Amino acid sequence: MKIKKSITDDLIENGFTRINCNNYELSKTERESFNVFQNYYKSLPPDKFLHLVDPENIHNCYRYRRWGRYSLNPLNLSLKELGHIPYNQSRKYNKNAGDIERDFAPLTEGILNNLFLKSLIINNFKLFPTSNSMMAKIWHVYVHLIKISTDHNGIGKPSPEGIHQDDVDFFSIHLIKKVNCDGGKAIIYNLKEIELERIDLNRPLDSYYVIDSKLMHDVEDIFKRTNIGRAERSILILSFKSFINK
Ligand SMILES: [Fe+2]
Repeated sequence: MKIKKSITDDLIENGFTRINCNNYELSKTERESFNVFQNYYKSLPPDKFLHLVDPENIHNCYRYRRWGRYSLNPLNLSLKELGHIPYNQSRKYNKNAGDIERDFAPLTEGILNNLFLKSLIINNFKLFPTSNSMMAKIWHVYVHLIKISTDHNGIGKPSPEGIHQDDVDFFSIHLIKKVNCDGGKAIIYNLKEIELERIDLNRPLDSYYVIDSKLMHDVEDIFKRTNIGRAERSILILSFKSFINK
């Protein structure tokens, strides 16, 4: 995989940036592997903890997801699968579901070994601004496959928790598929919650990258573009978090 846009300076200056899909150059096998990866979203299990962050919609599960983790050695850029554990955010970062172990469905063996996914993680890490001290730390990569799929206008909230941070160093969001969907733009704020930009991801692999500590973010609710069928927005979130020195 080759990412043709250099974004490191932009990230340092603004804390976020976007990359359009045509900047990702995939080999034939990576392209095939991406097609396989897209198909994993057809059978994502429901998010059984959605009611914690969106209590008004307890009878309406519109979010489907899996999650998993790797460790990343920043020096040789190797990935190692970490065993499945429940996802747990601090209450400081997630008022409604923080400090609660949400045991989302795990990544399957096929996903964990997917060539496109591993290649994207490594190439993304190379784009983020990392100091020498950061390179000496232990890094974990959190992988979230998330699909919002709804038959109801406005009842499809990619970010029901509202404006927030993720408590990681860096993250990237990659569109996997969008069907019959209006809204769903990512909204980037500064730390005073003043809006800086809305980012619309339209084609598979349209993406944006964020330094989490510098900004806050949210995502618009999604709406059906036509009355026929459901609105769907599937994304891949890759989060990079460093820990105390090895
Ligand atoms: Fe987030």
